[in-house]
Order: sequence, then C-alpha cells, then structure tokens
Amino acid sequence: MHTPQRVALVTGGNRGLGFETARQLAAREVSVVLASRERAAGERAARRLADQGLPVSSVLLDVTSEAHIGAVAEQLDTGPGRLDILINNAGIMLDSSGPDGKQASVFVTPLSMMRESLETNALAPLRLCQALVPLMRRHGYGRIVNVASEMGQLSTMRGQYPGYKVSKTALNALTRILADELNGTNLKVNSACPGWVRTDMGGPKAERSPEQGADTIVWLATLPDDGPSGGFFRDRQAIPW
Ligand SMILES: NC(=O)c1ccc[n+]([C@@H]2O[C@H](COP(=O)([O-])OP(=O)(O)OC[C@H]3O[C@@H](n4cnc5c(N)ncnc54)[C@H](OP(=O)(O)O)[C@@H]3O)[C@@H](O)[C@H]2O)c1
Repeated sequence: MHTPQRVALVTGGNRGLGFETARQLAAREVSVVLASRERAAGERAARRLADQGLPVSSVLLDVTSEAHIGAVAEQLDTGPGRLDILINNAGIMLDSSGPDGKQASVFVTPLSMMRESLETNALAPLRLCQALVPLMRRHGYGRIVNVASEMGQLSTMRGQYPGYKVSKTALNALTRILADELNGTNLKVNSACPGWVRTDMGGPKAERSPEQGADTIVWLATLPDDGPSGGFFRDRQAIPW
C-alpha cells in the first residue's frame, strides 16, 4: 500500500535543535513545516534546507500566541490536510539571566519568570496538542515528541533553575497524560532528552553536536506502530522521570 508523505511541524525550527531536527526529518522525506516566531528567520532557515533539495516550508508561530496556533492549524488543515508529526521543541531557559547567577535560586526567582517559562515550555505544547491532535486523529497516525531535559527529571532534581526545571517536569507530566488519553490509538507521545548540546542555549562547551542531540528526537518522531508511548528517552533508551 502507498504510504502518504508524512507532514511534520517543528516549533522553534529556525535554529539549534529545532533546525537540526527539521533537517534530519526532511532528509527522511518527511515534508517539514518549520515554525518560527520571527517570520524572516523561519523563511531563511527553511530556504537553507530547501536549497539542499529538502522538502521544507516555513510558517509563523510564536507558540505562546493563541492566534498563531489557530492560524497554523487552519493552514495545515486547508493545505496538506494532515499532520503526522509534532515536535514541541521551542523552549526558553530564563533562570540564569541574573548578574552572578543568583537569580537562579528558588528563593529569589521572580514569579513572572516562572510564569513565562511555564507558558512557553509547558502550556504552549499543551495548546498545540489540543489544536493539532484532531488533525492527527483524522488519519489515525501521530507522533508527538516533547523536547524535555534531564533538568526536568524528578529522580535527580537538585536546587537552582526553578523556572526551567519546573516547566520541563510539567512537560513530562503532559507527555504521560496525553499518552494515556491516546492509548489504543496509533498516536504516540514521548519525551526526549537531547543531552547537553552545542546550541545558543547549551553554549559552546556542551558535549554534543546538534546532530547527536536531534537523533533521539527524530527516532521518536518516526517510531514504528509497535513503538513505545508515554516514555522519556535519551540516546534511544528509556530514562527515569
Ligand atoms: N541545548 C541543550 O543542551 C538542551 C538540553 C536539553 C533540552 N534542550 C531543549 O531543546 C529545545 C531546543 O533548545 P536549543 O538548545 O535548540 O535552544 P536555542 O538554540 O535557544 O533555540 C530555541 C528555539 O526556541 C525558539 N523559541 C523560544 N521561545 C519561542 C516562542 N515563544 N515561540 C516560538 N519559538 C520560540 C527560539 O526562537 P527565536 O530564535 O525566535 O528565539 C529558537 O528557535 C528546548 O526546548 C530546550 O529546552 C536543550
């Protein structure tokens, strides 16, 4: 039977892990919609990949904008009429922005920063799933990858960076809840930890290249029908929550 070309949406696709994930998916002949909150940056990034012959287009998406999410859902509906893969990659780490890093302590962290972290890293993926899972259900297929972090792991959690940590733990909880509610369908939801990666967020001293960091994300995005759902993975191996 002919398999239709899969369509993927990658949030925060203009740079870092999102860009590399878009590249790797497109190299597997997935039609990638590279989402970016700055239109020109998204267009530039998509063009870089399209110039290599890869099937990539761009779309405007600030993941915290209800209006943008609605517009993207409509464009996917009236365009390809399907969405097979959602990579919730867009993320922020605001905790370390204080002068000498003191702002990273839970005792001084501004609640506004906690809220902003939760909005982008946890509530936006939730809203995207609410808006886009109906499109996945239409064709009975879906792979959702929430790009989490070991900093959201409760089993090893220590002090500092509460905004980032709490938001990534919340994202992991969302993975569990979504996966359970989708149990019995061919829609799978998993969390990926890319490791410490050389991006603007990870910095130049990080141990992994974006290619290595994106590997588990792409693996989860292309799982076979008997693959896992509701798990947390690094290097293609299940890790503790
Ligand atoms: N790098 C690491 O070591 C590491 C480790 C564990 C997990 N992660 C996770 O991996 C994901 C990607 O990180 P990265 O290292 O590639 O970070 P990055 O280089 O800082 O890139 C972050 C991306 O997210 C986008 N973004 C942020 N807020 C957004 C919003 N409201 N709407 C749309 N896009 C938004 C940024 O867009 P702009 O260009 O417009 O700012 C950018 O494209 C994040 O979720 C991060 O938490 C990274």
